[in-house]
This record gives sequence, structure tokens and C-alpha cells, in this order.
Amino acid sequence: MPDTPNLDERRAALESIAKEVRGCDQCPLHSGRTKAVPGAGRADADIMFIGEAPGYYEDQQGLPFVGASGKYLDQLLGQIGLSRQDVFITNVIKCRPPGNRDPLPAEIETCTGAYLDRQIEIIRPRLIATLGRFSMALFFPKNSRISRIHGQPKRSGGRIYYPLFHPAAVLRNPNLRPVMEEDFKRMLTLIEEIDQAGEIEDEPPPPKQLSLF
Ligand code: URA
Repeated sequence: MPDTPNLDERRAALESIAKEVRGCDQCPLHSGRTKAVPGAGRADADIMFIGEAPGYYEDQQGLPFVGASGKYLDQLLGQIGLSRQDVFITNVIKCRPPGNRDPLPAEIETCTGAYLDRQIEIIRPRLIATLGRFSMALFFPKNSRISRIHGQPKRSGGRIYYPLFHPAAVLRNPNLRPVMEEDFKRMLTLIEEIDQAGEIEDEPPPPKQLSLF
């Protein structure tokens, strides 16, 4: 992959990863899947959404977020003037866990190492929006609570990481709807920041705690 790949090169590289994903047998989840779900969207998207794992409908269709959570995600994108063609959407793991159980640490490690990390490297999104706690845990400290840090961007390595609730959690708890919608709206401001700044400045390190003695 050249230093600054053009759109065709990125599309080709993503398609080749997608082929690998569809034939993957690196963890036991492959034996229970109908279709693997590599991800979909713009190969040069500024914004990449990372969910948790395919559910029933995603497993049937081989596409990310096509069930109820996906319909809600489409609505949220629409509210800020975007559609899924403008962004890239994928998941931490690419195959549906049995009964939609939580992904296991070994599955996450294998799948992100084999696929997600490479997808990020190819797409080079300027903002990564994490949906739910499993994708949040890839980029934020392990003890982070989503209820505390949702909607608070972290600038690192020239990129913005933006933790959001999982759409399914919001559908289960309608009290979270206004919060989720505010968090999405704030993404517009972040996109403006990206458009105006040539580079995203990293967050300054936290100030040293002054000793009282
Ligand atoms: N939930 C996810 O985390 N990802 C999907 O693709 C669908 C539902």
C-alpha cells in the first residue's frame, strides 16, 4: 500500500480484506455464521463507525447494521445530514456470536488484529465513532464507563475518537434518545474542526498533580 493510497487502491485493499473475512476460519465463530460481515461504506471516509458484532439480520445479509439498530443509526445520520454512503461502518468482530452473546477477548484480539486494524489503516478516518462498550474499549482506558465518557472526544495521533452509546442500548432505554441525538449533533462540530484544521492536535498531557507537601 503506497504512502497516500488513492481511492481505487483503498477500494481494492478493502475488498481484498472483505474476501479474507468471508473465508476466515481463524476463530470458532466461523462455524456458526451464515455470512461474515466485513463492513461497508466509503473507502476514504472521514468518519468510521465501529459497532460490536453482527446480529441476526447482519449475519443473514452480510452487511453491518441492517436490523433495528441500523435503522436507528440511519435516522441519527440523517439528522446530521449524512447517510451511510458518506461513512464507513463496521464492527469489532466480523461474525455473529451464538445467541448474540458478548464477544470473547480472544475473538476480539484475533479479529481486530487480522481485519479491523488493517481497515483503519486503509481508510484513515479522521474520526472514529465507537458504538457501545466493546469498540470503546479498543481506544479508551479499560476502566472507562460509557455512561460517563459518551460524547467526549479524544484527540490522539491526528485523529478524533468519539465514544457513543450503542444504538441498541438507546432503543432499549428511550431515556437515552435525547442524549444520543445531542452526541450525534456534536459530531457536526467535530467534523467542522476536522475540515478547518489541517491536522488534529493531540490532547495535551494531563497536568502533573502538584504535591501539597
Ligand atoms: N449491532 C452491532 O454492534 N453491529 C451490527 O452490525 C448490528 C448490530
